[in-house]
Amino acid sequence: MRKIDEDTITQAVIARHAAASDARLREVMTSLVQHLHAFAREVKLSEAEWFAGIRFLTEAGHITDDKRQEFILLSDTLGLSTLVTALNHKKPAGCTEATVFGPFHVEGAPHYALGADVANGAKGEPCFVNAQVRGLDGTPVAGAEVQVWQADADGYYDVQRAGDDTHRARGVLHTDAAGRLHFRSILAEPYPIPHDGPVGRMLDHLGRHPWRPAHLHFMITAPGYERLITHVFREGGRYLDADAVFGVRASLIADWVRHEPGTAPDGSHSAVPFYTLDFDFVLNPETTR
Ligand code: BEZ
Ligand code: FE
Repeated sequence: MRKIDEDTITQAVIARHAAASDARLREVMTSLVQHLHAFAREVKLSEAEWFAGIRFLTEAGHITDDKRQEFILLSDTLGLSTLVTALNHKKPAGCTEATVFGPFHVEGAPHYALGADVANGAKGEPCFVNAQVRGLDGTPVAGAEVQVWQADADGYYDVQRAGDDTHRARGVLHTDAAGRLHFRSILAEPYPIPHDGPVGRMLDHLGRHPWRPAHLHFMITAPGYERLITHVFREGGRYLDADAVFGVRASLIADWVRHEPGTAPDGSHSAVPFYTLDFDFVLNPETTR
């Protein structure tokens, strides 16, 4: 094909995909090319703008490694992560809603017994979490694997602290025979997503801030149920209506109750104020998907 111009380029590219052996790949790439070209036509993309886009993606690539996931930040801040989560986790009413995964989950977090302090030295006010995991019909889910992770009082996840590989404020626990779970951690606080790279500059140019409302991450896995990746947010905190990554759902906002110094839920004496969070999770049985 030698006559390629503004009007024929889109079909010319799509035609080249005809030989792709993976039909789904062909479908996705055909649609991507159509939308990408339509976007360039709609905004009449200049060469300078196209090159700025290439530079942006190059910088995102350069800053990305296994601890800094600039492309996840890009997807999150453009709402793509929330859209993909919503498209893939349509659940019956009554199930706990899923939300964005984020870039700070790590494999190999320490396993803890129920009641343990998963903070492991992370800075923050004490918080005691009490939860139950049930199926949609109310059946307690015993032995569910529950991974939790959160930022510390300074707004950093353990993986963001250079030179210290200790897992803090994250852990893996299992529900008891009644589907119950309790552990100690620290109070979640609002924090900004990493914004010292291209995504941060993009937010700045768009007049957007990088802050997320206070939350605690959960990933719950149990045989026979759809895996649940979600957060619990703190009622009354800042940014609940302005989450930089569009992760908030009304059903995931809970009271984190402040208590004066005294006897904590684990029976210990807390000399400082502490918080309690009670939240129940309802898993979607795999058969309803
Ligand atoms: C998080 O909640 O850990 C997170 C989610 C999206 C982007 C950055 C952080
Ligand atoms: Fe987070």
